[in-house]
Formats: sequence, structure tokens, C-alpha cells
Amino acid sequence: MFEKNRSASLSQIIFDLEKSVDQLPIAEKPTDIVFGEGSPDSEIVLIGEAPGYNEHVQRRPFVGRSGQLLRKTLTQVGFPPEQVYITNIVKARPPDNRDPSPEEILAYKPFLDQEISLIDPKLIITLGRFSMAKFLPDVKISQVHGRLHKVRWNGQIMYVLPMYHPAAALRSTQMLTAFTQDFEKVAKILIWVKEQSELIVDLETISAILL
Ligand code: URA
Repeated sequence: MFEKNRSASLSQIIFDLEKSVDQLPIAEKPTDIVFGEGSPDSEIVLIGEAPGYNEHVQRRPFVGRSGQLLRKTLTQVGFPPEQVYITNIVKARPPDNRDPSPEEILAYKPFLDQEISLIDPKLIITLGRFSMAKFLPDVKISQVHGRLHKVRWNGQIMYVLPMYHPAAALRSTQMLTAFTQDFEKVAKILIWVKEQSELIVDLETISAILL
């Protein structure tokens, strides 16, 4: 799909989302919605939890303290924020920054699913346990962070890399080290994932020739 079409389709999702605020939890008015941002043609989609105060005010994901760490780390490992796509599972700020509830996650799910399907990334990076649970419901983040997982999502093979949430990385030096080290692996992991999809395409071409 051409970039223009993807941008237009993303604008349509935002339009639908803002139009649906009456039926959505937490959001009271269209301006309460914080949508994803970045490149619609990115090979990487990063998924956080929900907007906080700064995100709510600026209507942009990950612009507060943890967002600054995320954006700085992405730049350091060769993926400037504007070249990837950053979004959240819940698109409005939970009161007092509490954890999003299962009902809230479910209510915003169709919009996140549309973002993912449209961008069709090679690699999904989940930030924290809530977005990780979307793809890997039965694992512990402390055991799987920084390790690539191949999952079936909506009938499709997806590669998911669970990471600690940057807010957790801000809480201790140990977590910050783990967070940074995990991000340092992204470039190599992305190359490997792309090689896998090229292999599949090659195999499909060979079987098309043979059959
Ligand atoms: N934390 C999140 O999970 N998302 C944001 O956008 C900001 C902070």
C-alpha cells in the first residue's frame, strides 16, 4: 500500500474513534483521544499502555518522562521515533494514571487492531505487561523481556518482542540497564525477522513454479 493511502486510512481510524467517544470508556470528548503517531510505513510498531497527563495535554503518545526515555533510546539504537509507529492499547488517560481495566482494553481494541492491520509491521514491540498480554497472555515480563516471540494473531504470523515499560526503567538502574540492552537488540532482530519473511516468499515462489 502507498504511504498516502495508509495515512488516509489512519486518519479515518482517528475520525471513527473521535466519533465514537460517547460509547467509549474514560474519554468524554473527542479531544480526550490520544492516537498513535509516527510513520505509517514503519516496519516496527511499539505499543504502550495508556496516555498519562502530558500525553493527554499534548494529545501525543509517550511525550512525558517515560516517553522521553523511550524516544531517546529509540534514537540511540538507530530508530528515531518519527521513523517508527508508537501507539497505546487504551487511547484516553485513565483517571489518576491507574492501570487500564480489561473492559477499557476491550473497548479500544478494535481501533488498535485496525492500526496494526493497516501498518502490517514486521515487528511489534510491546512496552509493559498490558500490551504484552494482548499477544502473550500467559507469560511473565521478567522472564520474557527482550526475547522474540512468533505468535499467531488474527490468523497471521506476527513477531512480538516484549520489553519493559520505560516507566519501569525509570524506577531502578537495573531495570534501565535491561531496558537499554533489550533495545540494543532491535536492529539485529528486525534483520532476522525480515529474512524469515523473505524465506517464506521464496518458498512460495518455488512452490508456485513447481505446481
Ligand atoms: N505510558 C504509556 O503507556 N503510554 C503513553 O503514551 C505514555 C506513558
